[in-house]
Amino acid sequence: MLVHAIPTNVTYDFALDVRAGLTQPDQKELPSKYLYDDVGSALFEVISHLPEYGLTRADERLLRRHASEIVDRVAGPVSVAELGSGSGRKTRYLLEAFCRRQRTSYYPVEISHSALVMCERELSDIESISIVGFEREYLDGLLEVAAYRKPGHHLCVLFLGSTIGNFDRTAGIRFLSDVRNILKPGDSLLLGTDLEKPHSQLIRAYDDELGVTAAFNLNLLARANRELGSDFDLSKFVHTAKVNPEARSVEMHLESTCRQTVDIPASEIKVEFAAGETIWTESSHKYSADEIDGIARRAGFRCEVQWIDEQWPFAENLLIAE
Ligand SMILES: C[S@@+](CC[C@H](N)C(=O)[O-])C[C@H]1O[C@@H](n2cnc3c(N)ncnc32)[C@H](O)[C@@H]1O
Repeated sequence: MLVHAIPTNVTYDFALDVRAGLTQPDQKELPSKYLYDDVGSALFEVISHLPEYGLTRADERLLRRHASEIVDRVAGPVSVAELGSGSGRKTRYLLEAFCRRQRTSYYPVEISHSALVMCERELSDIESISIVGFEREYLDGLLEVAAYRKPGHHLCVLFLGSTIGNFDRTAGIRFLSDVRNILKPGDSLLLGTDLEKPHSQLIRAYDDELGVTAAFNLNLLARANRELGSDFDLSKFVHTAKVNPEARSVEMHLESTCRQTVDIPASEIKVEFAAGETIWTESSHKYSADEIDGIARRAGFRCEVQWIDEQWPFAENLLIAE
């Protein structure tokens, strides 16, 4: 796979974002994208196999069952871009179906280098595929993919695994509008959305018994220690997951177990934590199947078809750019 590497200074951006997030007057927070360094991407892959985290299996069941129908509904000839591909394991079903129809270019867009490497290892054996990875933020990568568009080709963008849920609802619609503005009428977006379910089931999914999600979350502090020279004592923070009923989301936090001060040299700050104070690290918003068409329309798409997994309520939505 040809990989276009990231041109910006990631560590510098990380230092600035840590400074901005940990000096907020009220709730301290860190952007969830920093969860995905090499260690975080490997841990996320394990999470996707956990019995409590049914989301990835639901997404995979829908893609396996409906791959041919999805591909039949996407106008061709087409190139496929995937935003935040991760390992790309479940994308195989779609790509095999696309490649049965025509030789297909696949462009995974990822900020995690190790996820891109996993993705190539996972998918490069598919017949008639060419893979070019972009180690980029979602929209920067998609802009470059669009610049590669061959004359007469449509783009099909995949945004799977309910990663849209990491944005709050307003930011999610803004993000989908930004995606739409890079596309042309008739292009498509396959959007995976996790649906609302009982709170106890959600808490188990984001705070598993083995502690893999806790390790995934705590790795953010370990990453700051590795890359920013900070002195977070991981034994003095615990992972917590809680449902936010107004936002219809599950939030992950890192809670300080005592009063403490952390030095973060690269961000040029010392941060005070009270006992019980938290850093908010990720939100995963949940949806009702009925609201997706409205969200799609506000972003400049129409929802052409929706497939729902009943075992773990999850919707795969095929949106067409208007
Ligand atoms: C929740 S995981 C989902 C992975 C995969 N799509 C799946 O469904 O299992 C989100 C993925 O998006 C990537 N990611 C997160 N923020 C990103 C950003 N701003 N730009 C590009 N990739 C990002 C992460 O590295 C991670 O692999």
